[in-house]
Order: sequence, then C-alpha cells, then structure tokens
Amino acid sequence: MRLAVLASGTGTNFKAIAQACQSGDLNAKCSLLITNRHCGAIDIASQLDVSAEVLQPNNYNNYNLWDHEVSELLQNHNINLVILAGFLKKIGPKVLHNFSGKILNIHPALLPKYGGAGMYGENVHRAVIQAGEKVSGSSVHWVTENFDEGPIVNQFTVTVEDDETPESLSLKVRSKEPAFYVETIKQVLSGLK
Ligand code: GRF
Repeated sequence: MRLAVLASGTGTNFKAIAQACQSGDLNAKCSLLITNRHCGAIDIASQLDVSAEVLQPNNYNNYNLWDHEVSELLQNHNINLVILAGFLKKIGPKVLHNFSGKILNIHPALLPKYGGAGMYGENVHRAVIQAGEKVSGSSVHWVTENFDEGPIVNQFTVTVEDDETPESLSLKVRSKEPAFYVETIKQVLSGLK
C-alpha cells in the first residue's frame, strides 16, 4: 500500500503519518509528499527521506494543467491512497476521477458543520466559538468535488470552554489530530472503516 500526503503547512499530520509508516505502525509506505508551496512539510520530508514535490498552481497556464500534473505524479508513484493533511488547494477533477474513493482529508471541526470554502485554520474555530458550540473536534472524511462534503469516516470531540479562544481551540484540536489521523488511516487500510 503506497500513500501520498498532500500538505500546505507545518506538516504535523504528515510527519506522524510518515513516521507511522516507517515504524511499521501503519502497514504502508509513505511514498510521496506533494505541496502547492514551500512550507514546513517539505523540511520534514527531507528529514524523513520521503520524496517531495512542490507543484505551484501559478506555474501552470491553468488549473487543469496543474490538476493533470498532480494526477500524473500520483500515478507515476503507484499511489493507492491519497491523504490530504492541511492542503489548501482544491483537488481537481482529474485527480478526483483517477483516485475516486481513495482520497482522505482531515478537517478541524465536526462536519457537516463548519466546512466549505474559507473554513480553514482559525476561521473554523472562530465560527465554532461565535456560534456558541459547547463541543468541537475534528473529522476525517472521503474527498468529493465540494470542499468538506464527502462521507465522514471518523471524528473525535473536544469540549469548548466558556473562555475558549480560536487560538486555544486550535491548539486543543491540533494536539489530538496526528495520532487520530494515523489511527483512522490504520482502520481504513485494514478495512474497518
Ligand atoms: C490540521 O488542523 C487539519 O485539520 C487541517 O489543516 C491542519 C494541518 O496541520 N486541515 P499540519 O500542517 O498537519 O500541521
């Protein structure tokens, strides 16, 4: 089983997944990291000896060419499961078609609420707090053509305290996500989810 991780940020989730593959905790090889910009995840890939490619959409004449390139790269590496971990570009139709039902994402809220365009980073936690929610969490879901709308695979919850801030809620959720994502991928790979 060959995994590719797509990331745009610090790469905390990518690191946990790549390390779990290397330790044998996940019965898979983390074969490839793709990012859409220079970011922390690239440094982690070089530390962990995972092939990394930066595919910046601006370097392509249009979005479809970028989408095509992402798809080719995944296919050339014989990827079986695509893991989005803080990837901020929309997955294109070519990748969706070629990896239908094989793309997972993690979103830092309890979907189906607080997902969709613009709902990333602290925007999500701010919306949760403003709505007066007492519980938030994180969701792993299958990726479909609309942001954050595919079938939910697994969720965990955290309590939203009365004095919670977007920053504190983000920290609380982020501290639990990497181990949770690894565990969920393990269940997906063993057919339990
Ligand atoms: C995570 O909070 C995830 O839920 C969201 O993006 C963040 C990625 O963080 N989709 P990192 O780059 O793995 O540290």
